[in-house]
Amino acid sequence: MAYSDKVLDHYDNPRNVGSMSAGDDDVGTGMVGAPACGDVMKLQIKVNAEGIIEDAKFKTYGCGSAIASSSLVTEWVKGKSLAEALEIKNTAIAEELALPPVKIHCSILAEDAIKAAVADYRAKQGFVEETESGACPAVVVEKAAA
Ligand code: FES
Repeated sequence: MAYSDKVLDHYDNPRNVGSMSAGDDDVGTGMVGAPACGDVMKLQIKVNAEGIIEDAKFKTYGCGSAIASSSLVTEWVKGKSLAEALEIKNTAIAEELALPPVKIHCSILAEDAIKAAVADYRAKQGFVEETESGACPAVVVEKAAA
């Protein structure tokens, strides 16, 4: 299978590889795995006082498409609000990278990693996740006052 030029570009020159301190209150960490292939993606966001993602890092143990997808989304989320970051869909990632159908799950991994990172950050700020069984943890509600 031939990778697109954009996948090869991100694979050869991945943006924002690295780690942040997962314990910091302004850092959200998303760690997700793809059951289909066993690949793992860690994506971290650093959020400033205005609620804007000012930095993002990733580490991916996976295929070229997974590495390219995570590299791409770290670029896309920078400068975005959390709500805007949650609007990034795997279909947009797959389209940008011209992923073939067999590699769509690699882009889903990146979308899931963003959601998990935002959820982790929000949990640190006192939000709780409310998920329906089997659904992605995309619904967030404010924690009821005790
Ligand atoms: Fe599984 Fe790409 S082959 S993430």
